Amino acid sequence: MSFKKVSVIGLGYIGLPTAAVVASRGIEVVGVDVNPKAVETINEGNIHIVEPDLDIVVRGVVSTGNLRATTIPEPAEAFMIAVPTPFKEGNSPDLSYIQAAANAIAPVLEKGNLVILESTSPVGATEKMAAWLAEARPDLTFPQDAGENADIKVAHCPERVLPGYVLQELVANDRVIGGLSKACSEKAVELYKTFVRGECIITNARTAEMAKLTENSFRDVNIAFANELSMISDKLKINVWELIKLANRHPRVNILNPGPGVGGHCIAVDPWFIVDSCPDEAKIIRQARLTNDSKPHYVIDQVAKAADEFKRPVIACLGLAFKADIDDLRESPAVQIVEELANKNIGQVFAVEPNVVSIPEKLVHAGVELTTLDLALERANIVVVLVDHKQFREADKTQLVTKVVFDTRGII
Ligand SMILES: NC(=O)c1ccc[n+]([C@@H]2O[C@H](COP(=O)([O-])OP(=O)(O)OC[C@H]3O[C@@H](n4cnc5c(N)ncnc54)[C@H](O)[C@@H]3O)[C@@H](O)[C@H]2O)c1
Repeated sequence: MSFKKVSVIGLGYIGLPTAAVVASRGIEVVGVDVNPKAVETINEGNIHIVEPDLDIVVRGVVSTGNLRATTIPEPAEAFMIAVPTPFKEGNSPDLSYIQAAANAIAPVLEKGNLVILESTSPVGATEKMAAWLAEARPDLTFPQDAGENADIKVAHCPERVLPGYVLQELVANDRVIGGLSKACSEKAVELYKTFVRGECIITNARTAEMAKLTENSFRDVNIAFANELSMISDKLKINVWELIKLANRHPRVNILNPGPGVGGHCIAVDPWFIVDSCPDEAKIIRQARLTNDSKPHYVIDQVAKAADEFKRPVIACLGLAFKADIDDLRESPAVQIVEELANKNIGQVFAVEPNVVSIPEKLVHAGVELTTLDLALERANIVVVLVDHKQFREADKTQLVTKVVFDTRGII
């Protein structure tokens, strides 16, 4: 095996499963994270995120010594960087986490190493990362100057796993691998081949960056279309779920589902990276973001109107996560809706989120109470389905007959 020691920088939703899967192939993996609590948890053989079966794999590879976590980078043959890439005020990408990770690994880099940027990144970020590394290590050569013969190989390999199915998709999905040179791509393919069963397709770094942004923008635009249809359908008194089902009977039509908005760390963020690079050209992509971002306000207005018919109603909001069957509340339209409904002070707001044990401070502050599905349904006058969690899909719907129901996910 050509890689004996690999380091994964950032042990979150992407980095930890990646580290565990690579370690499960018998490679020594050192996971690095700036969060000492996460490092401690992992070294105890436990996990700090929710992802099916990940606890089993992590426990296994920690107990065999194949995976260990630390806060301080150490030498390795390959470094896989999976740190956050959020956007800043004004929707421009925040590359400071990548820069911090590059600066952290630079002192331990050695000739022959491979550095892979896995974080979803705007076009040009991999080149920037290589420049930061080169600045910190003038004693080594990098592909931007030394081409195919560089001491350090650098590539971008975007991650496209689906939360909830990460362990399967990490192995089964095809990978787009964009090196800063052909030699960089080939070395990166060698690493991915140690754990990926899907095809590893070579391109350049800029195209690989854009491929990931394109995938998520495609979905965002398609969901914006569905969300626009849902608002049009409300106005025209048409059931949007039936409408989409019928339209999708056409062999070349495939409309995605509307919802309360678009959330998460990917689809709600990545299209802005394209808009930021090409503001004059990315018109549809920008409008889709605006349409999807406006959907929570539409839901809030509808619920507020219904609440007017009651004297301080109990409003049960089902789900806080940004999508079904996960615990990730980041950029979640459900959180936004629940918070704004509570701040309107139009009634008592209950939140039901079976995948978390506590709710964000801002919700507690707004007076939101986290409760069970049974209690919420028993007490509610208004029920707002915000996430199609399994527990809600399978719940007894007869209780809802006497309630005012807003089903933003089409599960009822
Ligand atoms: N979560 C997903 O489903 C998903 C899917 C595809 C791609 N991505 C992309 O993968 C990247 C990582 O996302 P995530 O969901 O794993 O984020 P995350 O927030 O779950 O994890 C990131 C981790 O990096 C750590 N970190 C931050 N700065 C660091 C540094 N300088 N050195 C070491 N560790 C550092 C954080 O403490 C955290 O544990 C992002 O670019 C994201 O867009 C995420």
